[in-house]
Amino acid sequence: MKNNIIEMTRGFFNITVAVNGEKKELAVRNGEFLLDALRRHGWKGTKKGCDTGDCGSCAVILNGKPVLGCLVPAVAAHDGAITTIEGLGSVREPHPLQAAFVEAGAVQCGFCIPGMILSSKHLLDVTPNPTEAEIRKALDGNLCRCTGYVQQVAAVKNAAKTLAGKGKRA
Ligand code: FES
Ligand code: FES
Repeated sequence: MKNNIIEMTRGFFNITVAVNGEKKELAVRNGEFLLDALRRHGWKGTKKGCDTGDCGSCAVILNGKPVLGCLVPAVAAHDGAITTIEGLGSVREPHPLQAAFVEAGAVQCGFCIPGMILSSKHLLDVTPNPTEAEIRKALDGNLCRCTGYVQQVAAVKNAAKTLAGKGKRA
């Protein structure tokens, strides 16, 4: 059952949240947004671009849905579950989406990539075999100033094939 009671101490709320499958107690500032709270607590893979909801670089998955961390109050994550880019894979063991992005040459400066990959992960979670139009729609809110999006769309298609071959969900 959702525990809606959050105690405030000296300007901080203590929230309980599962981040990448690990239950954590996080002290978040009054009025702080999820993006800043995550970064302050060490999940710096979540990038701060525009800070106004326009670029998608701060996207994370909250309770199974992609959200923009710069628009969601941190307290709204209380009793919830968050996936950040750190929860997907590592340099040694990349998630199929991460591997596909690298293989397709979809990563240049890399700033947009965590948000893009999390938007792509949500897409493949709900639509394992997406059309190009569905991929483009899912990535619509993720801006990239380096690429023309062609490589990223190809990467999502390739990751979908890899996951289907392994019989896995994203
Ligand atoms: S930093 Fe959140 S949308 Fe740009
Ligand atoms: S790779 Fe540079 S902004 Fe997308």
